[in-house]
Order: sequence, then structure tokens, then C-alpha cells
Amino acid sequence: MWRLRLLLILAAQAALTAVFGADTYSRHDFPPGFVFGSGTSAYQVEGAANEDGRTPSVWDTFAHAGFANGATGDVACDGYHKYKEDVQLMVETGLDAYRFSISWSRLIPHGRGPVNPKGLRYYNNLIDELTKNGIQPHVTLYHFDLPQELEDEYGGWVSNKIVEEFTAYADVCFREFGDRVRYWSTVNEPNIFSIGGYDQGIVPPKRCSPPFGFNCTKGNSSSEPYLVVHNILLAHASVAKLYREKYKVRQQGFIGLSVYAFGIYPLTNSTEDLSAAQRANDFFIGWLMHPLIYGDYPRVMKQNVGSRLPAFTPLESKQVKGSTDFLGLIYYTSITIEDESSSLEEEPRDFNRDMAVRLITGGNPSQYFEMPIMPEGLQQALEYFKQVYGNPPLLIYENGQRTPRNTTMQDTERISYIHAHIGAVLDSLRNGSNTIGYFTWSFLDVLEVLDGYESSFGHYFVDLDDLDLKRYPKLSAGWYAQFLKGKRVGPEPGTLIGIGSNPSIADSK
Ligand SMILES: *[C@@H]1O[C@H](CO)[C@@H](O)[C@H](O)[C@H]1NC(C)=O
Ligand SMILES: *[C@@H]1O[C@H](CO)[C@@H](O)[C@H](O)[C@H]1NC(C)=O
Ligand SMILES: *[C@@H]1O[C@H](CO)[C@@H](O)[C@H](O)[C@H]1NC(C)=O
Ligand SMILES: *[C@@H]1O[C@H](CO)[C@@H](O)[C@H](O)[C@H]1NC(C)=O
Ligand SMILES: *[C@@H]1O[C@H](CO)[C@@H](O)[C@H](O)[C@H]1NC(C)=O
Repeated sequence: MWRLRLLLILAAQAALTAVFGADTYSRHDFPPGFVFGSGTSAYQVEGAANEDGRTPSVWDTFAHAGFANGATGDVACDGYHKYKEDVQLMVETGLDAYRFSISWSRLIPHGRGPVNPKGLRYYNNLIDELTKNGIQPHVTLYHFDLPQELEDEYGGWVSNKIVEEFTAYADVCFREFGDRVRYWSTVNEPNIFSIGGYDQGIVPPKRCSPPFGFNCTKGNSSSEPYLVVHNILLAHASVAKLYREKYKVRQQGFIGLSVYAFGIYPLTNSTEDLSAAQRANDFFIGWLMHPLIYGDYPRVMKQNVGSRLPAFTPLESKQVKGSTDFLGLIYYTSITIEDESSSLEEEPRDFNRDMAVRLITGGNPSQYFEMPIMPEGLQQALEYFKQVYGNPPLLIYENGQRTPRNTTMQDTERISYIHAHIGAVLDSLRNGSNTIGYFTWSFLDVLEVLDGYESSFGHYFVDLDDLDLKRYPKLSAGWYAQFLKGKRVGPEPGTLIGIGSNPSIADSK
């Protein structure tokens, strides 16, 4: 999860909280085979950063320079050592599936070349533990943690060289894990990763250029975000081609890409704002989806970005088009859009200026932590994928509520949030959406991007003051467990069943 507040240049407006969707439901209301899960990512959960041959990724470098709110993933949740215990918690919670990512520099320490046997063993153990317990592994190959060596050598994703090296890394993953893993996503939310990392410089690899972003020592905010997404699309297509040619017949898996989406609402019904809202959809969603479905960038992006937007050769266009079997959708909240066409007259420009809109968040600014609950925005996004992109199979890979860490185990806000969004998914399914699964973010309280250990999204609190990093279920773990075990649920917390005692360790702090 990215902190929207920093990521975009935002103004606040009054709360638009609404509980939408079916009010009480059970998982039996969902189609058979619909998958419910929860997720984490490697750097955010594993720890063991310097153990067993892993080398630093761009995230380690960024965190150790103090940019992650002073926190690092050196230990994180120590998932590297505690995976068996965590899989047992997943069993108790009743997850069908677990989404996690592979640390490239743990598996292949120099980014290329020999595989690290201990890294290989860790992922084999984790995948075995999951499948043995009937939990489907959903693997993300790349969740922002490029091996630092590749970044130093040629700038990582700004270079086309990455396409070949990412493909070679994926080849190792398919070869070693593909007998047990069927759902692969290549890159996590490239549309936000590129803005955060290469325009605003607020996440690794922290590249940007004035007047955009914060304190970067290198980069180009006007051109690199477009270049990076272009290379990601080519890398994704190359990996999909490899999988289809070499593994698909035997392994029967699927290759996806995850996209960060907002619900997008025009501020007024003026022609300008309506067209600004469409532009925002084309810039945020179309940037990835148009090439994947139609083989080229949206026309308005080509117009506004001009020569800074890389062009696909006819062969590349053909390879990118149709290269995804499913989409991973990351959804947290909605934004309101106001036309700002005047920004097209400015130089230099970045993504925001090229998009030429003003972004307005919903919600009350005094609610520092919780996000406004806007499930209707999720329905809108699902409807948009259905109508504009031909209703591709879609897994909602992240959705969840942020609360301050170390405050309470009674996370009723998280229950209200998740309840409302699962209800919205149900409504969308009833209206023809091809959504095939839903995952909460996050299973545990992990190292959060930008907030470090200040905020939490987890169903389980991880006690960082305890050397053993003991996990404790919050109320939302019990609520999700009830739902997953087939109970009819409403927005109330309900009573905890099937989950161990719930000492309010955090409440006493
Ligand atoms: C940028 O650097 C200045 C001066 O060192 C500092 O005050 C500011 O907090 C930094 N901004 C960010 C976003 O890191
Ligand atoms: C960024 O790249 C663009 C396009 O190549 C170029 O025109 C511009 O001068 C560069 N800006 C910086 C700050 O290097
Ligand atoms: C715009 O028009 C739609 C349909 O008539 C209406 O539902 C919506 O509330 C209007 N939006 C604004 C901001 O006035
Ligand atoms: C339901 O689907 C129809 C057909 O795609 C669409 O016109 C309508 O807007 C959808 N309703 C909602 C609430 O999304
Ligand atoms: C929460 O607890 C951890 C572990 O004691 C500590 O490192 C962190 O600073 C605390 N955070 C807050 C917001 O109190």
C-alpha cells in the first residue's frame, strides 16, 4: 500500500463515506471456485535480509539511508524463519490462498547467474507448507525490490537490459516452483511504482528531477516514469511468452500483471471535468491496460506526453497485446478529479502535469490514518474493466484498511472496510464482473511502505517488542475467519471462533 497523501498532490474535501453493497452475505453467495486470500510481500515480511546469501535490493539501500521512516526490513516479521507458524495462522483463518512475492536477490544474489541454494530452499519450503495445507500460492515475481547490483550497473528498470534479465529470473522461478504455483504476477502495480520511484522519488530507487519530487540525486521525472512502465510492459510480455512456450502445457498456470486503480469521479458534470475524469482513467489505468488489450498507449497519453512516451515497434505491440491471462487489481479508495488543462502549458512536465487534472481525495483530513470507505469506487473500477477492457479475469490482490500500529486489537474500522468492499465485489459479480478472487492486504502487520512500522493493515498484530515477534489475532482476523468458514456476516465484529485467545497486548501499551 502506498500512502496516497504523499504520492499525489492532494487537497481534501468532506467525507463521502458510504456503506455500499450487500449488507449481510456469506461466501456461499459467491461462485464456486471464487478464491479468498490475503497477502504480504518479500521485503515487507521476510526479514533475514543479510542471511543465507541474500544481497541488498534497492529497498534495503533506501531503508538504510533512513528514507522509510527510519525503519528497515532487516527483521520485519521474520517470516523467513516463522513461515510454518504463519501458514498455521492462515489455516486457522481459513484462507484459500496466500499472495506473497519472491525476493530476487535472495533467489539469485547477483541478479543474474547462480541460484542461491538456501534461497531456493526457503521458497520451496514455503510453497510446500502452503500446498500441504491446501492453500494456493499466488506469487508476485517483482514487488519493488530490484537487486541493488543491477540498479548500480545499468539503472535497473530505466534500461531495456532489464527485459532479458527479468525474463531469466522468471525462468528460474517457473522451472523451480511452477509445478506447485499456478498464479504468477510479474510486476506489482507498475503504474504507481513508476510515479513513486521515478517521478516523486519517495520510494526506491528514489529517482526524480526538479521541480518534481524530493531530494533526488539523479533521475528525470519528465521521462523516466514512462520509460520504466514501457520496459515493465516489455518485460511482462517477454515473461508471458516464455511461460506460454516453455511451461504452460505442463504447468497449466496463468500470468498476470497487477494494476493500481482508484474509483474516479468528476468534481462536477461540466464537459471539462467529465473529460478530465476520462483522462485520469486513461493515464492511470489505460497506461497499462491499453497496451495489454489493444497493443498501444491511449491516444490522449500520446498527445499530451509526446516524444517522452516511448513507442512500441509493431513486433513489441503484438507481443504486449494479449500478454496477460488475468489482472491483479489493487484498490483502496476513490479520488475526485477536476480539470487542469492549463498545466499542459507548463514546462517541464511530469505525469501529473501531462494528465492535466487536479486530484482531490475523499475523506476527512483530520482522520490521519483510516482511509475513507468507498466501496462504490471499487464497483466502478470493476465496471470500467468490464466495459472498456473486455471483462478480463480479475483477482483483487489488495484491499484493506490502514490503522495506527500499537493502538488496539479491536480493529472494527478494518472490519467495516473489508465487509463493505466484499459486498461491493458481490454486487459487481451479480452485474457480470469477471472477478475470480479477493485478497486482503495484509495478512500480518508488515513493514509498510513510507510509514515503516507506524501504520498497520494486518489481521494479525506482530509484537516488535517481543524478541520472538509473537503474532496476535485482531478482531478482523476472527471476522474474516467466520466469513471464510461459511458464516453469514454483517459489519459487526461477531465473536471469535476457531482462533486462539486474543490477549490485548497492544491495548495495554
Ligand atoms: C528533503 O531534504 C530536506 C533538507 O535536508 C528535508 O528537510 C526534507 O524533509 C527532505 N524531504 C523529503 C521528502 O525527504
Ligand atoms: C529529461 O528527459 C527529457 C526527454 O529526454 C529531456 O528533454 C529533458 O531535458 C530531461 N530533463 C532532465 C532534468 O534531465
Ligand atoms: C452528474 O450527473 C449524474 C447523473 O445525472 C449524477 O448522478 C451526479 O450526481 C452528477 N454529479 C455531480 C457532481 O453533480
Ligand atoms: C451493470 O452492468 C451494466 C451493463 O454493463 C451497466 O450498464 C451498468 O452500469 C452496471 N451497473 C453498475 C451499478 O455498475
Ligand atoms: C510500536 O512498537 C514498536 C515496537 O515496540 C516500536 O518500534 C514502534 O516505534 C511503536 N510505534 C508506535 C507508533 O508507537
